[in-house]
Parts: sequence; structure tokens; C-alpha cells
Amino acid sequence: MPLLQLEHVSKKFGQVVVADDINFELEEGEAVGIVGPNGAGKTSLFGIISGDVRLYGGQIHFVGQALERMHPSVRCRSGIGRTYQVPRPFENMTVFENTLVGSQQGAVLRGRKSHEAAFSALERTGLSSLANRAAGSLTLMQRKRLELARALATQPRLLLLDEIAGGLTDLEVTELTGIIRSINAEGVTILWIEHVVRALLSTVDRLLCLASGALVADGEPRAVLASEAVRRVYLGDRILNEAMDS
Ligand SMILES: Nc1ncnc2c1ncn2[C@@H]1O[C@H](COP(=O)(O)OP(=O)(O)OP(=O)(O)O)[C@@H](O)[C@H]1O
Ligand SMILES: [Mg+2]
Repeated sequence: MPLLQLEHVSKKFGQVVVADDINFELEEGEAVGIVGPNGAGKTSLFGIISGDVRLYGGQIHFVGQALERMHPSVRCRSGIGRTYQVPRPFENMTVFENTLVGSQQGAVLRGRKSHEAAFSALERTGLSSLANRAAGSLTLMQRKRLELARALATQPRLLLLDEIAGGLTDLEVTELTGIIRSINAEGVTILWIEHVVRALLSTVDRLLCLASGALVADGEPRAVLASEAVRRVYLGDRILNEAMDS
């Protein structure tokens, strides 16, 4: 049984099609990347899987269970964790307290178990020494790590990463990528949206490309990037950018 299965998944916001009959499956333990131009529907797809965005048509199964009617909190409890493109921690709470929200509200752990899960997530993301700092005082890199720690504290079986490497320096990207690879090596399935293709290529063994809500490629990363369908998508993007610059 696949870990995650999407069948004919569709979604529109008014006239904007963000998911156009999407079909794919993830096997447990895979690390899969998602690329696609701005506005392609990548974040919306994560919303559809995690439950923030209501499906318009189609079906999603997680470990064989239908997700459509399941509340986001129940999806999280059953093992779907995610990070957000723009980290928004509780600024006045400490790094530890922010992570505790993941283990207590997400994984529904209590007492010592919830504390252990939060500490373990901070350790894995290299944030232990900042545990008592207010989240509002963190740098972008530290916020990205906290985003990851909060998601890890929910004890995910499937981890959805939304541009976790965006805006970081090369060295920071390398550090973060190492952490993500080790999480995957421990058996957590990764689905990772990223514009920093170098980071993706060092981690994923499969790549999906979304354009205007449609899945235009799915396969071995380098073959996908070299494919005619993906080249066409990014050529269009470049022409658009040049047109906007002139
Ligand atoms: N809640 C919403 N209501 C209306 N339109 C929305 C909503 N969320 C997203 N959209 C629109 O849907 C389209 C896809 O947005 P989405 O954020 O999924 O794209 P993306 O692929 O993640 O882009 P980026 O690479 O810039 O993050 C965009 O045109 C966006 O403006
Ligand atoms: Mg996005």
C-alpha cells in the first residue's frame, strides 16, 4: 500500500486552477522533490494534503485512509507534518515552547513524553542551545530550523517541506540539507517543494514538476529537469520575467 495516494485531485480558487487532475503516489521512505514556477500550485497542494485547503474534486488516501473529510489536526496526528513557506513562530514564546506546541497539539503527547519529543526535535535541528530564546529574536536560518523542529515534534511519518532552503546562504543550505537527509534516513518520507534545485538534487531520488496546477513531469530528478515538458515550463517563466523587467 502506498503511504500517500492522490487520485484526480482538483482545486480552483475562483477562476484560478491550482490543482488540475493530479495523480501520484508516494511509497514509505521516499524523498521526493517538487519544482514549478511561482503560482504553479505547489503550496496549495500541501494545503490540500494537510487539510488547510478544501479539495474540489478527487481523492487522497494516507496509509489507505481517505483524507477528504479529516480535520487538519487529525491528519497531523495520523502522521502528516508540514512546514510553512513563511515561518510564523509564536514570537513571544521560547524556541522550546514553540516546539512543545508541535509535540502537545500536533502529536498529542503529554507530560514528560511531550518534553522529550520537543528536546529531541531541537537537538536534531541544532537548536538546543537556543531553547530558552524568544522565537521573535531568531535569524532567518534559525527560524527555518525552528519550522523544521516544530514539524518534527509532531512525529511525522510524512514530512511536507515548503521552501525550507529559500533565502539561505550556500553554507546554511548545505547544513539544512544534511539534517533533512538524516530525517529521511530514519524512515520519514519527505515531500519537498524547493526553488533551490541544488539542495533538492542532493537529497531526493524523484522529482515532480507542477505548472498551472498540472503535474507535467514525475521521475528521476535529472531526467525530469532535462525533459521537454519542464524546459517548456521554465522557458515560459523566463520569457514572462523578461517581459516584466522591460
Ligand atoms: N487562499 C487562496 N485564495 C485565492 N487564491 C489563492 C489562494 N491561495 C493561493 N491562491 C492562488 O493560487 C495560485 C497558486 O498559489 P500557490 O501558493 O499554491 O503557488 P506556489 O506554486 O506555491 O507558488 P510560489 O512558488 O510562489 O510559492 C496563485 O495564483 C495564488 O495567488
Ligand atoms: Mg508556494
